[in-house]
This record gives sequence, C-alpha cells and structure tokens, in this order.
Amino acid sequence: MGPLPGPRSLRTPYVAGNWKMNLDRRSAVELAEAVRGHAADGVDVGLFPAMLHVDEVARVCAGSHVRVGAQNCSDEPSGAFTGEVSAAMVKDVGARVVLLGHSERRHVYGESDAFINAKVIRALSEGLEVMLCVGETIEERRDGRTEDVCRTQLVAGLEGVSRGDLERVSVAYEPVWAIGTGETATPEMAGAVHAYLRGVAAGLFDEDVAQALRILYGGSVKPANAAELMAVPDIDGALVGGASLRPDTFLPIIVAAS
Ligand code: PGA
Repeated sequence: MGPLPGPRSLRTPYVAGNWKMNLDRRSAVELAEAVRGHAADGVDVGLFPAMLHVDEVARVCAGSHVRVGAQNCSDEPSGAFTGEVSAAMVKDVGARVVLLGHSERRHVYGESDAFINAKVIRALSEGLEVMLCVGETIEERRDGRTEDVCRTQLVAGLEGVSRGDLERVSVAYEPVWAIGTGETATPEMAGAVHAYLRGVAAGLFDEDVAQALRILYGGSVKPANAAELMAVPDIDGALVGGASLRPDTFLPIIVAAS
C-alpha cells in the first residue's frame, strides 16, 4: 500500500480572478479567451467579470475548465429592487458561482454579515456555488482580533447552510490590509488563519466537511508570491484581483497552483 493521501489531496486547487469594475467588453472577452486556452491540469479556474460581462464571458468559457461567476447578487428572488440582479438571473446567463462578502462590499457598501448570509442562502437555493470572503482590517489585526473577526464572518455567513450545500461553498481569506496594496500576508500568517478557519468549519459541521472545504488566500497575490503561499497545506488556491487582469500575470499563478 502506498502512502495515505494528505489532506490537501482531497482538495483541488482553485485559482480565481476577481476583475472588479475593470475592463471593457472586448478586453474581458479577450482575457477570458486567453485563460480558457491555457491548460490547467488539476486546477479549478474561476473568473469573476463585471456583471454586464458575465453573459459574454460565460459563453466564451462554456464547455471549458473555467467556471464563470458574478461578483455579487441580490438576496431577493425577484421584484421591485431597482438596480439589483438576482441569483437566478446570474445563473440563467451561464454563471456557476457568485462571490459574496468581498471586503469592498462589506466596507465600501456597508454590507452586514446578516445581509451577506441572506445572499449566500439565496445563491445556494438557486443552485449556484458561493465563494464567501472573510478578512480583518489592519486595526483589527493590531488589536489581536483577527481570529474573532474571521470566525464571526464565517459563522454568520454560513448560518442556515446545510452540510450538503457546503459542498458548493468555498471560502476566501482576504485580509483587508492586503487587498490592492501590494502588501501580502506571509505564508505563515495566512496559513495560521486558514488552519483556524478550517477548525471553525469543523466545529460548525464536522471534520470531513472541513477537510473538503477549499479556503483560498487573497490579497496582492502575484506570480512572485503565489507558489510559496499555495505551498502551505491549508491554502487551497488564490483569489486574485489586480494580477488577474492580464494573462502574463494571471496564467503563471494558475501554473503555480498545479
Ligand atoms: P488584489 O485583490 O489581488 O488586487 O489585492 C484581491 C481581491 O480583492 O480579491
């Protein structure tokens, strides 16, 4: 008998690009084509274009290893909610996943844990996957509250999610102070929070579920630091912002995950 598989082997690495409010339609399609054309053996790849481009990017990536997602969705099923986009609409145009709880939604738009949880429940009930982001601000880290903040966000975000539905959830740990700043958590810092969050998931559900849960790191991931971050056993991939906007910086991160 060979060696028993390690915990990481339960989890396929996952690298996703969060394009935020960037790119026009043509450049979004060209970037999606470049990612689609890049073989990524053993790595799940995700793209989160701006809402208006989800339809087109999903068409470009249909039938490929690249899953496409929206950066947000409504907590409501339908109705008089001017400016909102429902989870069902997102799914209808070919998205498979939705990004929820990103720090820009929490801190720029004031989304609460309860509101994010309502969106999580809505997205899962529509059959979408969810990538749930959690992370502390620099003040919270300095106050020694990193674990508390991340636990609260994870527990609240997953309230009411069944054990079965958790299979369609991944988590992204994104320290707010590392997003778009060029400052990255060290592999040790990130690894400690990932291991802690996996423990929280084990307490909420059970050890098997926690071992299967993918926890990605996000915050200034680039080709130069991706490999050492993803070499940490509890870091199962990367959620990439700025470096996902160009093939020459995004594709090497996918390679680093394989
Ligand atoms: P960044 O963004 O890679 O530009 O820091 C990450 C994110 O916000 O998901």
